[in-house]
Amino acid sequence: METYEVLEEILARRRARAIGVSNFRVADLQRLREHTGVTPAVNQIELHPALQQNELRAFHAEHGIATEAWSPLAQGAVLQDEPVVRIARSHGVSPAQVVLRWHLRSGNIVIPKSVTPERIRQNLDSSASS
Ligand SMILES: NC(=O)c1ccc[n+]([C@@H]2O[C@H](COP(=O)([O-])OP(=O)(O)OC[C@H]3O[C@@H](n4cnc5c(N)ncnc54)[C@H](OP(=O)(O)O)[C@@H]3O)[C@@H](O)[C@H]2O)c1
Repeated sequence: METYEVLEEILARRRARAIGVSNFRVADLQRLREHTGVTPAVNQIELHPALQQNELRAFHAEHGIATEAWSPLAQGAVLQDEPVVRIARSHGVSPAQVVLRWHLRSGNIVIPKSVTPERIRQNLDSSASS
């Protein structure tokens, strides 16, 4: 709470355009709402097809908090899943692009990590067409 109050001060002094949190559960966000004045702009959470966080996402939607997905590809673990591979084949795209498009269509912000230039390009292309 003390840390968040410092973030609120930074926001009030216009030293930041927005403030947010990470890995907050619904109970944590509720506590923040009860004791502080500023709703976080974003909550960065682990989120991918194998961990869909529906309750938390619904809470975010209700309170105008952006959902940011960390490990959006489940560190590669969902890329061999049969439905993902099947959808990728039928659309002529990669499994990672299917998963990233699923995120974007769900309204999530995604921060996939890759050290491979071709994958970085591929991941960026996921947002290029509808
Ligand atoms: N807030 C938090 O508590 C928290 C916790 C964990 C992570 N994060 C953040 O979340 C970000 C991403 O998470 P993450 O690195 O854990 O998982 P991730 O982005 O889901 O997965 C990264 C893995 O997927 C591979 N990959 C990326 N693009 C691919 C593609 N197009 N095709 C096939 N494989 C692909 C990468 O391999 P290569 O690199 O070998 O290409 C890497 O092994 C990081 O920047 C991290 O800082 C935040």
